[in-house]
Amino acid sequence: MNSFHLPERMMAIKMPPIAEIMSRISELVSSGRKVYSMGQAVPWYSPPSSVLENLAANLKDPFIHRYSPDPGFPWARKAVTEDFRVRREIDLDPLSEIHLTCGASQAFLSALLAATNPGGKVAVIEPYYFDHVFAVKFSDLGLRSLPMIEIDGGWTVPMEDLNRVLPEVEALVIVNPGNPTGKVIPDSIMMQIARMTEETGTYLIIDETYERFVFTDDTWHPWKDEHQKHVLTLGSFSKSLGMPGWRLGYLFGSPDLLEQAIKVQDSVVICPPSPSQYLLAEALKEVEWIKEMSEGVSKRLELCRSALDGNNSLFWREAGGAFFTLAAYESSMKAQKAAMYLLNEYGIGTIPGSAFGESGEGHIRISFGCLSDEELEPAMKLLSEVSFPG
Ligand SMILES: Cc1ncc(COP(=O)(O)O)c(C=O)c1O
Repeated sequence: MNSFHLPERMMAIKMPPIAEIMSRISELVSSGRKVYSMGQAVPWYSPPSSVLENLAANLKDPFIHRYSPDPGFPWARKAVTEDFRVRREIDLDPLSEIHLTCGASQAFLSALLAATNPGGKVAVIEPYYFDHVFAVKFSDLGLRSLPMIEIDGGWTVPMEDLNRVLPEVEALVIVNPGNPTGKVIPDSIMMQIARMTEETGTYLIIDETYERFVFTDDTWHPWKDEHQKHVLTLGSFSKSLGMPGWRLGYLFGSPDLLEQAIKVQDSVVICPPSPSQYLLAEALKEVEWIKEMSEGVSKRLELCRSALDGNNSLFWREAGGAFFTLAAYESSMKAQKAAMYLLNEYGIGTIPGSAFGESGEGHIRISFGCLSDEELEPAMKLLSEVSFPG
């Protein structure tokens, strides 16, 4: 009899413990327990009802049920490039410099495969977004993980390590603002990274999924000044427009690279979902609503910082944006156990920092961007009271 082996490449990838945490949350909720779920990075809001009503009115249009062009409808791409031009001073050609994708997740795979050769090496900044690392591994690429420096109550990009590793790698991936740290990379550092990667001939892949949630003045992007050919940028509408289930994101970069990236898109998903593109174009018109939601995330960040300020067991780590802090805690418990302890003892759902690489051990990721208005006050009170056993 033939025996079939599971491939080592896939077996070596360990899924993060999110499913375990989410299933324990469901168990507790079904048993009548109040749980504050600050585990997943999902916003507390959905798109405005006027936008959904407009979409519903369009559902009889046969085109909404068909494939769109591979890179998305031209009018939907234009809605995004217009937003970037007006709001970010990034001027893109909607027909050749941007693709709409099935979320930032698929955009990442497209970017990664467009920028690397088989067996090439890719550097990530750790604590990293684990899905990036999975994609690097299952694409048979070598991983160089560069731990950030934890200093002065926050996280700092390890520039010396970066300098050392860049000549060895084909691509550097950065997430800005960061997941899981919420770290916003200062403009001066982004400028250095863009210059260093250009000098070493390394592609720079920027994941800006949380671009709408930057609460510092650091909004510089390499394409603001010139269309740097080595920079590929991807992002998401899951968070900013409250539509994670609609699977829509984008990838922008030089037409040469996008011509390669579209081969991945065509093979994996063909095109982004057509109904989602209708939703996107309508939602982007809701400028005030988008701003209000971003201000809501900023408010949550401030409240979370204040909640942890007086806590002697759980320590705030500065976040300049996104939905998170990767807080440190004082206990001999491993992060996985600490996250379960928080859930069982306090009804607070978080993700263990160890899911984001070794340097995340001893931390938990608190996703304050999930909390509804009603949940905010009681959840923050609980967080301020958390105490870990030694
Ligand atoms: C850094 C980062 N990149 C990508 C994604 C995936 O986004 P999408 O829903 O657009 O695929 C997430 C989702 O949490 C994320 O945090």
